[in-house]
This record gives sequence, C-alpha cells and structure tokens, in this order.
Amino acid sequence: MLTNDDKRFFDEEKSLHEEKYLAGTNPRQQSGFGRDERDWERFRRPVAAPVEKDGTFLDVGCANGLLMESVVCWAAERGHSIEPYGLDISEKLAEIARQRLPPWRDRIFIGNALLWEPPSTFDFVRTEMVYVPNRRRQEYLERLLERVVAPGGRLIVCSYGSSRPEGARAESLVEEIQDWGLPVDGIHDVVSAEHGFVITRVISVAR
Ligand SMILES: C[S@@+](CC[C@H](N)C(=O)[O-])C[C@H]1O[C@@H](n2cnc3c(N)ncnc32)[C@H](O)[C@@H]1O
Repeated sequence: MLTNDDKRFFDEEKSLHEEKYLAGTNPRQQSGFGRDERDWERFRRPVAAPVEKDGTFLDVGCANGLLMESVVCWAAERGHSIEPYGLDISEKLAEIARQRLPPWRDRIFIGNALLWEPPSTFDFVRTEMVYVPNRRRQEYLERLLERVVAPGGRLIVCSYGSSRPEGARAESLVEEIQDWGLPVDGIHDVVSAEHGFVITRVISVAR
C-alpha cells in the first residue's frame, strides 16, 4: 500500500531520474554517473565483491543496464559466471536497457521495488535504500531479503557518495541495518586516497 506521500515521493524520484538520465550522452550518464569509464570501474567494481559463486544477479534500479553488464565482466574476472537481470521503476529507462541489451530484453522488468512481486528469486540482489521513503527502508530491505533473494544468496546494499569534498557523502548503512537485526556479512568500500572519506559503500547481507 502506498500513501499519498509515498506516491508523491516515487513520482518525483522517477521524474528526476528520467530527466537527468535521458539527457545523458554516454552509457554512464544514462546510469546516473557523471565521470569517465575509469572512475565507473573504480567506484562501481565493489558491487561485484560479494559475488563469490556463480548465479543470478538482479540490479534493482538498473537504469540503462550498464551495471548489469559490468558485474558480469567483473565477476567473470574472478571466475564466476553471472546471469544478469534488472528492474527499474521507469518504463523509459527500462526500454533503453532493453534496446542496449537485446539478448537480456526479457530479463529487464518494470516495477516499483517496494511493491514488486518477482517471477523467481535471485542469488544476488543489489539496491540502494534511497529508492524508498526513509520510514519504509526497514520494510524494504526485509521484503527484498524474504521475497527476492534466494536462500543462500546475498542482498547487496549500496550507497554512492561524491568524490568531491563539497559533495554528498555515502551513507554508513551498517548501524541502521544491524539495528534491524539483519546480519551484515561484508563491507566493501572505495575510499578517497586524497581526502580519506568513503566514496562508495557496499554492504552485503546474507540470507
Ligand atoms: C543511480 S541509478 C542506478 C544505476 C546502477 N544500477 C548503479 O548502481 O550504478 C538509480 C535507478 O534506480 C531507479 N529507481 C529508483 N527508485 C526505484 C524504485 N523504487 N524501484 C525501482 N527502481 C527505482 C531509477 O529509475 C534509476 O534508474
């Protein structure tokens, strides 16, 4: 069930993402990332760190599907074969992903991750908590763990901060997730060599 405030939150977020990402002129910008390919790899590679076996990977908030492709490559470099899937709230962004990745067309779903009923479970499920209103974060993660992550799989929760000192910081996430009684089984960070703060935080929670 969504309240009127929830509906407003999702409508606004979807419009913001669509406006920004659809104006992108390269695949990274269409995934909400403003820097070059080298930095994409540097700041996003830890997402694949909790992938320690072959299996399925669902990117919740897949935008144009670039992270799905990247995780397949990064996991393969570590000897793991990944079958990627994606979910996005935006029909327009999901359509870009389907056009970019024709062999995976049928694996790119459209829906609001807070309410979505998956067709199956997935070994690895990546998301960010900023996709839902703050007061629904706990319910969101618990729902993903119970209904979307396969038994023996992992939920991968990311927070992406700026690499600039004046930019927004990545969230810690650890205390919040532990306070809900969920077992954090890994933390993978990208830390700014220059400034010492965390740029990318990736938390894994075992199911
Ligand atoms: C920052 S991009 C993430 C791109 C890529 N997965 C990554 O990690 O770099 C966020 C994407 O999440 C989608 N999104 C936001 N809230 C969502 C929700 N509640 N359910 C599904 N998708 C959502 C947006 O439409 C957008 O395409």
